[in-house]
Formats: sequence, structure tokens, C-alpha cells
Amino acid sequence: MPETTDPKQLPGADPHTGNRLIDPVSGYDTTGHDWGGITELNTAFPKIVIWALVLSFGYSVIAWILLPAWPYGGDYTRGLLKRDQQVQAAEGFRDLEAGRQDWMTRFASEDPAELQADAALMQTALPAARRLFDDNCAACHGAGGTGGPGFPVLADETWLWSSAPETLVEILRYGINSDHPDTFYGEMPAFDWMERSERAALSTFVVALQDGSADFDSDAGALFTENCASCHGDDGAGGLEVGAPALTDAAVIYGQDHATVMETLRHGRAGVMPSWEGRLSDAEITLLALYVAQLSEAAQP
Ligand code: HEC
Ligand code: HEC
Repeated sequence: MPETTDPKQLPGADPHTGNRLIDPVSGYDTTGHDWGGITELNTAFPKIVIWALVLSFGYSVIAWILLPAWPYGGDYTRGLLKRDQQVQAAEGFRDLEAGRQDWMTRFASEDPAELQADAALMQTALPAARRLFDDNCAACHGAGGTGGPGFPVLADETWLWSSAPETLVEILRYGINSDHPDTFYGEMPAFDWMERSERAALSTFVVALQDGSADFDSDAGALFTENCASCHGDDGAGGLEVGAPALTDAAVIYGQDHATVMETLRHGRAGVMPSWEGRLSDAEITLLALYVAQLSEAAQP
């Protein structure tokens, strides 16, 4: 019998199995493709893949009909369910704002001292207050109001002015040494007219005030009483509501070492606390003032 020349027969096919090339190891048909000794098996396409394709196509057809899908012009098909994530997001945001507005409006209109006494309200407002403080105040006063060179600590029990909530609200609104017409003024005058030796004696006295070893009956003590007590208090403990800090505690603005105090006495100081009127709402200002008061309370033993 002549060799078959059927063009469909694969080259090298075994005449006993017709056109089929069988892989001797697995028993599967092969496609006849051979890459350097590796033959491709002719296995059936997996059914699970076909089902996955059918299901996902079915799902996309249903989704096209029910959900927003096709853009056209400046718009898009809405789908039978008319679901719109833009609208959903806007509604969610409105609910959130309405919830916040409920208590935020109270900060705009009610007496700060009464708000301060409402522990539940303060608790609700705390996260928003902390965020406002981080955004607007922490750059100067430090995270958590821990202060820094030139910027007073807020998280302590001593104040330049007062811890009264109404005063704190006004300080935030008008600022200190700011460009607002109603600003607080708190200036440490320069004592450059004094003898340098007197300034040095005063400086030593001020350093000693901090650890309680200052002698008020000394010459330096007399200089202090004469020149400084009117603003810093007879005992140097501040609290006269003229913007002068306590010199008897650990908290410092510029520093209470000899060199820094000499600098303060020679040139004076006038730190600027900006006015927040117009930059923060009334409600935000009141909320922040009460937050600062709370920082101070939390820091006290
Ligand atoms: C640009 C820097 C700066 C920023 C921002 C700033 N402050 Fe001040 N703040 C100061 C300075 C400086 C003083 C002290 C002024 C002085 O030396 O008399 C001060 C003083 C204060 C005081 C009085 C402190 C006391 O012991 O009596 C309070 C309260 C205060 N700031 C709160 C805030 C709050 C709340 C914010 C955020 C809304 C804020 N500050 C943002 C610089 C700043
Ligand atoms: C007119 C009021 C006034 C008089 C008088 C005055 N001070 Fe002051 N002093 C201030 C004020 C206000 C500040 C805060 C300045 C600021 O924060 O920018 C201050 C700040 C200081 C500081 C800086 C404290 C710190 O924490 O860094 C020292 C030190 C000081 N005064 C010492 C003196 C001494 C000593 C005298 C007397 C020779 C004196 N002061 C007289 C108002 C006064």
C-alpha cells in the first residue's frame, strides 16, 4: 500500500492511529506543535473558564441595564436603578455637616463659660477642635500647645493674660500686638537706659526667681520691685493680666538663662499673636479658646 499523502495527516503521524499524534506519557492527543522536544497537548478548553466568561458577560449586560454605564455627550446612561454615587456622596456629606452644624452653631451663639461646663458637648467637639488647632496654631505653639522659643506654652497653668474663656476668645479674635485695631498690647520695654551692671544684677535675680532662690531684700531685688513688679507682680509670679509672664515657673517664652534675659532686658520683647477674626468663624474661635483652656487644665496635676 502506498504511503498516504492525505494533506490532513500530520507529518510524522503514526499510521496505526490515523492522523493522531499521541503523547506517550499522558495519553493525550498532541497538536503536533513541537518546541525543541516539548510537544503541546491538545487538551479540552477548561469548562470553568467558559462558565466564568458566560457569567461575567451576563453580569455586565445586567449591570449596563441597571447601573450608570455608558457615557454619551456630556452625560451618561443612568440605569434603571437610577443610582448615582455623586448624589450619594453629596447626601452623605450633607448629613455629616448637619450633624456637625447642630453643635457648631452653639459655639457661635452661646456663652463660652456655659459651653465649657457642658462636658458632653466638649467631648463631641474635641476632634474638630484638635484638627483646627493642628491646622492653625501648632505651627507656632507646638503640637498640643507645648510652645517653643518665642511662643508661649499653652498647656500649662500660667497665662500671659487670663484663663477666663471670654478673655481667651478675645485674644484669639484680636491677637496680641497684632494689626487689629482692638489688639491686646503686651510689651516688655527695653531697659537699655539702665547701667549694664544693673541689668546684669537683675538678670541674675531673674534666673534665681525660677528656682525660688531670689533675694528680694538685695539691691537687685529692690531694682526688680522698682522697675519690674508693676507688670510681673511683686513676687514675679505674673497674673496681673497685662500680658507679662510669670518669671517664677518653669515655663519660658524666650528663655530664662542669663544670656537670653540680658538680651530681653537690652532690647525688650513684643511677640505677635495674629488676629483670627475673619480667618476663623466665631464658632471656631470660641471652640479653640475652650480647647486651649482644656489643654491647660489637662496639664495641671
Ligand atoms: C504666628 C505665630 C502664632 C500663631 C499661628 C498662633 N499664635 Fe498664639 N501666640 C503667639 C505669640 C507670639 C503669643 C505671645 C504673644 C506675646 O508674647 O505677648 C501668643 C499667645 C497666645 C495666647 C495667650 C497665651 C497666654 O499664656 O495667655 C493664646 C491663648 C494663643 N496664643 C492661642 C493661639 C491659638 C488658639 C492659635 C490658633 C488659632 C494661635 N495662638 C496661633 C503666636 C502665634
Ligand atoms: C510694662 C510692663 C513690663 C515691665 C515694666 C517689665 N516687663 Fe518683662 N515682660 C513684659 C511682657 C509683656 C513680657 C512678654 C513679652 C512677649 O511675650 O513678647 C515680658 C517678658 C519678660 C521676660 C521674658 C520671659 C520669658 O519667658 O522668656 C523677662 C525675662 C522679663 N520680662 C523680665 C523683666 C524684668 C527683669 C523687668 C524689670 C527690669 C521687666 N521684665 C519689666 C512686660 C513688662
